[in-house]
Parts: sequence; structure tokens; C-alpha cells
Amino acid sequence: MPCSKNWKKPMSTLEVRTPGHTYSIRIEKGLMSDLGRFLGPFNHGQKWVVFTHPGLYEQFGSEILTALEDSGFDIAFITMPEGEASKTIANVNRIYDQLLKQNCNRSTTFIAFGGGVVGDVTGFVASTFMRGVGYFQVPTTLLSMVDASVGGKTSVNLASGKNLVGTFYQPLGVLIDPDFLRTLPVREIVSGMAEILKCGAIRDKTFFRKTVKNLTHLIALMDQAPLIETIEAACAIKARIVSEDEKESGLRRILNFGHTIGHGIETALSKTGFRHGEAVAYGMLAAGYLSHRYGKLSSAEWNELREALWQLPLPALGRIDPDKVLAHIRHDKKYSHKQLNFVLLEELGRADISADISHAHIIEALNYLTRSIHKET
Ligand SMILES: NC(=O)c1ccc[n+]([C@@H]2O[C@H](COP(=O)([O-])OP(=O)(O)OC[C@H]3O[C@@H](n4cnc5c(N)ncnc54)[C@H](O)[C@@H]3O)[C@@H](O)[C@H]2O)c1
Ligand SMILES: [Zn+2]
Repeated sequence: MPCSKNWKKPMSTLEVRTPGHTYSIRIEKGLMSDLGRFLGPFNHGQKWVVFTHPGLYEQFGSEILTALEDSGFDIAFITMPEGEASKTIANVNRIYDQLLKQNCNRSTTFIAFGGGVVGDVTGFVASTFMRGVGYFQVPTTLLSMVDASVGGKTSVNLASGKNLVGTFYQPLGVLIDPDFLRTLPVREIVSGMAEILKCGAIRDKTFFRKTVKNLTHLIALMDQAPLIETIEAACAIKARIVSEDEKESGLRRILNFGHTIGHGIETALSKTGFRHGEAVAYGMLAAGYLSHRYGKLSSAEWNELREALWQLPLPALGRIDPDKVLAHIRHDKKYSHKQLNFVLLEELGRADISADISHAHIIEALNYLTRSIHKET
């Protein structure tokens, strides 16, 4: 049974160093009530706009307002509906109009307060409004704490696929308060945990094994210190990768492990409420299968990966139409020169890009998923 004595103090700061900009990720329990102090050095009397969902506004709006107004901030809120439906050009247009009505200008600073949806939209608007304004990420889901809020990828969706329009635009900082996770539904925790396992699988075998060992406790949010250390380790892996390759011309592509088939599944099943991380978990199973069958992943480590992912309480996949998944994969940004760049594991903790995975292989992996679901659930 994990014991918080063996874990570090629940507070830390990491740095993301990209060519144009260095910023920090601050991870601290209770940080929210001290927001004014953390953001104070960036407040020069300009207007601040907090982007969030109506539900999160109801839950935390007055706390944010108090924390910031007490420190002399000029604050406004803009809300957007929950879910992928907000990641559209139409929503972005509506937001531009609201910003103009509120007399926002180039000095206005944004705060993305929410999960990956709020983060992606806020980042996209920040990168384009008045040719770019500063923004902070205050992630409130596990997935956005360890993944979406770090690295500066912003995006909205098009009818033909997810994240097809976007920018690379780094935030001024990321503030992570694990206390937000207390109200997060367990499915969202599991979704974030899938991305955490991904970080270990592609970059750090020891971290992967430690996370797997504590998985049940981590999902149940049973102990703060291990949870914070896990968030920190996952953020550190992502921060290092992004610092080395901000614009995904090389190393950063390994973060897409599980995402080629995962995005295909996510889009094909979008109407069923499948979560991003849940689809990525299935995508990692499919990619792990291909890594073992056609790549270098040993039987022992493929079993280890498979057993870890099956520990996650994932919703049943049901029947997936391979043609639908392939249709989405064809629009994937991971295609270049008519070639699919697919992330395979060479071993746990080491990933590489392969140009050898064809549509036939993907159909084989989808068939594997359909077969194994009946065996393993
Ligand atoms: N930019 C990137 O690098 C990157 C990386 C990974 C994922 N993403 C994107 O992130 C999105 C998924 O993000 P997500 O998983 O955070 O989903 P999400 O933003 O849709 O949030 C999930 C749900 O949790 C609710 N919620 C948020 N915080 C809460 C809290 N503290 N308590 C209770 N409820 C809360 C939200 O209202 C929402 O209903 C996808 O659009 C994906 O494409 C982006
Ligand atoms: Zn992801």
C-alpha cells in the first residue's frame, strides 16, 4: 500500500524552455486561493479575461474573482459550452466579438480555467486576437494538468477531424492546483491517467512501473503526495520533450503514441461521450500490439503494457467501423508525403516513429482490439 511518507513535498516548479520563451509550471495544493500572488508580477493594470465553462464558473467563479479582485486585478469572464462543440471556428468568432465588446486590446491577458477544451480554445484565441496576447493555463482536469496545458499547442476542430486548425503558442505560465481534482468525475481522472501512462511508456520505464503499481490509489485520489508527484513527473517528461522540440519536427512526435488510432476512435465514437484519454488508452493498446508484432517491443513488455492499460476502468468499445477510423486517420496531421508517421514502442520507456505501418496494419490492430475486449473485460 503506497504511503505518502515515501513521496516528496507536495509543491514544485518546472521550467519549459522553448526558443522564443521560457515559462514555469507551478504545482501546488491550495494554489488557487493565492492566485493573486502568483499572477501579481504580470498585472500592470490591464484587463484580465478568464475563459471557462458555465458549470466551472458557478463552482469556482466567485473564488477566482475574490482572489484576483482583492489583489487589484480588473477581471471579466467569458464562458463557453462544455465539450468538443466549443472547439469550433464559430465559437472562436463569438469570443472575438465578446472581447471587442468588452474593450479588450493587445495588453489584455487571458486565463484558461478548465480542461483541455477551454485550454485549447483560449490558447487559440490568445494566439490570434490582436496578433497575440498573453495567457495563463489554470488546468482543472487531470488530463489538462499533465498534457493539454503544457506545450503551447492550441487548436479547434473541423467537421472532418479533430485539432485540424491551430497554432503553437506558449502560455506565460501554468498553475496547477491538484485540489480541483476533488470534484472531477472518475472517468475524467481515468482519462488523464491514460496520458500519464503514455508519458511513462514513451520516455521513462521506472515512472511507468511506479504509476502502474499505484494505479488504483492514484485513480481513487487516495493520497495527495503521490498524486502530486505523479503529476509533476508527467509534466516534467512533457516539459523536457517540448523544450527540445517545440514545433513537433522530431522528438515531440512521440507524444502522439496511441493518438493515431486513438483520435480515429475518439472521432468515430464522438457521439457516445468517449473521453479523449479513454480513446488514447485503446489507441495505446492497438499501437502496443503493432509495436510487438511488427516492431521491437518484447513479449514481456507488451504484456506489461497491456495489463497496465486493462487495469484502467475503460468503457466498452463496442463495434468500431474500421472505415470510419481510417477516414479520420487520412486527415491526421501525422501524415506527411502520403506517409503515416506512426509511433511504436521499441521498449517500455523508448518510442520511435515508423513509416512502415499501413492501413492494413491499422485494420489488424482494430480487429485485435475488438477480439481482446471480449477476452479481457
Ligand atoms: N493542446 C494539447 O496539447 C492537448 C493535449 C491533450 C488533449 N488536448 C485536448 O483536450 C481536450 C480534452 O481535455 P479534457 O480531458 O480536460 O476534457 P474537457 O476540457 O472537456 O473537460 C472534461 C469535463 O470536465 C469538466 N471539468 C473540468 N474541470 C472540472 C473540475 N475540477 N471538477 C468537475 N468537473 C470539471 C468540464 O466541464 C468537462 O465537462 C480535447 O479537446 C483534446 O483534444 C489538447
Ligand atoms: Zn492526448
